[in-house]
Amino acid sequence: MSNFTPASLPDLTGFRILITGGHSGLLISPCLFSLFLSIGIVTIENFAKIFRGLTTTTELARHRAKVYIASRSRSKAEQTIQKIITTQPNAEIEFIEMDLADLRSVKKGAEEYLTKETKLHILINNAGVMCTPFSLTAQRVEAQFQTNYLAHFYLTQLLLPTLQSTSRSLDTLLGTIRIVNVSSDGHAKLTPKEGIPFSDMTMEHVSTWTRYGVSKLAQVLHAKEVARRYGPNGIIALSLHPGTVKTNLSAGPRGSTWWYKVVQPLVELGAPGPEKGCWNTLWCAAGSDVKKSENGSYFEPVGKRGKASVHAEDVQMAEQLWGWSEGVLRDNGL
Ligand SMILES: NC(=O)c1ccc[n+]([C@@H]2O[C@H](COP(=O)([O-])OP(=O)(O)OC[C@H]3O[C@@H](n4cnc5c(N)ncnc54)[C@H](OP(=O)(O)O)[C@@H]3O)[C@@H](O)[C@H]2O)c1
Repeated sequence: MSNFTPASLPDLTGFRILITGGHSGLLISPCLFSLFLSIGIVTIENFAKIFRGLTTTTELARHRAKVYIASRSRSKAEQTIQKIITTQPNAEIEFIEMDLADLRSVKKGAEEYLTKETKLHILINNAGVMCTPFSLTAQRVEAQFQTNYLAHFYLTQLLLPTLQSTSRSLDTLLGTIRIVNVSSDGHAKLTPKEGIPFSDMTMEHVSTWTRYGVSKLAQVLHAKEVARRYGPNGIIALSLHPGTVKTNLSAGPRGSTWWYKVVQPLVELGAPGPEKGCWNTLWCAAGSDVKKSENGSYFEPVGKRGKASVHAEDVQMAEQLWGWSEGVLRDNGL
């Protein structure tokens, strides 16, 4: 689907969308931004090029969806909303507080969403960290694994009843409810030979790159398992690699891996800007060309069915991961 552009998205009037990390680190104040905007130094479009979460949110709102940004930072999310509204006064965007590093916060955020809405058409599990130093979360799970995968597993579990009931009342253009996991080609390149290391899920003694790869593999497996379990109920779950894009994500590897600063220009050489970095996410979330027969698939930019790794195709591994994840929730009284 290489001729996709955000302009080809359908009208999303009436859609409710929740995206984690939908603000992506805006760094200047609304006043300064408005000044830059008024004297023509920036436009929302070229500012959005710097931030993928922002560009995804901006495009979905431009197509008239109501978008909820689930973020751990009220100030960043509110700055983002302010900036989008500067150029799209009718944009409907709200903030939901959610820190993926604490599953209690995920629960609170999901509950807050459900006090505001009875429907959810698209859930985009986008937020993530990469190559952060080893640490455990409040639930004693490795931090990258929880932020990138487990918190999104839990969020999806909490919202599945609403996604399913929305599916039953569906009268929309897309004809399906979507769950989109923003994974990475690292799901194949950075994982240990056994795939998900069930015998040592704390992963303290493997490299931070491996921990990232495992979290991204888990996201691909999760989409496949959701598709298998809930496809018959009208849910389409996809995973994707957005491409290599210059974003704040590289702060992780720059901080943890001395040589990354040296190779980063090479890694990012020729990489598209984030204005294109969000296209695959947009295509999976709201593109009209997604086929029910592709439920559970992994996509490369843009809308190209990608080759998921052998582990990512392992149905038993997907089931085992699901069981492991439910176990962690149970152990934490969630
Ligand atoms: N950039 C690439 O080349 C690339 C390649 C492959 C895959 N990806 C994937 O694309 C997704 C988006 O990344 P990006 O490139 O847009 O990076 P980014 O600009 O760093 O955005 C990551 C987002 O995740 C949020 N986040 C991190 N930890 C969180 C937490 N504990 N709770 C809630 N939100 C949290 C960040 O919020 P804060 O601003 O509060 O930190 C930010 O909004 C990630 O899943 C990443 O793995 C990116």
